[in-house]
Amino acid sequence: MLVLIALLFWGGSAALAEDTPPDQATAAQMMDDLMYGRGTVGGPFTLTDQSGRQRSDGDFRGKLMIVYFGYTFCPDVCPADLMAITQALDALGPAADGVQPVFITVDPERDSKLLAEYVRAFHKSLIGLTGSPEEIRKVANAYKAFYTKVPGTRDGDYAIDHTGVIYLMGRSGEYLGFLAPQTGPEKLTEILRKYLSK
Ligand code: NI
Repeated sequence: MLVLIALLFWGGSAALAEDTPPDQATAAQMMDDLMYGRGTVGGPFTLTDQSGRQRSDGDFRGKLMIVYFGYTFCPDVCPADLMAITQALDALGPAADGVQPVFITVDPERDSKLLAEYVRAFHKSLIGLTGSPEEIRKVANAYKAFYTKVPGTRDGDYAIDHTGVIYLMGRSGEYLGFLAPQTGPEKLTEILRKYLSK
């Protein structure tokens, strides 16, 4: 059952990785904690945006914050979810000013130089964040977001299996909940409207 639940919300392509990195819980454990609301989700962070500026979660107080972990080489799930977020924000019109979407790369080594161009393909307010591998791991752990490298077919090539949920944080930085990957833009718009009206 646990494995099934974890797979349901899995953003990556391969099955659960056998070799869990030593600095995080297993994918099943993290998804279990998230599903059943065990422990805290989110918290303070300071990372570097696509323009090289330091950004902290505190910069976005007063807005709802959408947090999405992914990587620019992700073939399908990340771009589809980011497009759904983009369409939901477009549908909100001016009210979208009350929402800050944030993309945090789980592939900082490759992505740091590519973030600016990548986020430009989505909503104009989307901020891409990167940092050292240790900084990213710390933030991902705080959000119970699992990720691990999976070797590709060619030498040095790799993909990343990662949790693909969409996190929603409140105006004071509090955790509101998460949406499954592949949540449609209409559903997202509806949920954002609900929280914006509060
Ligand atoms: Ni992805």
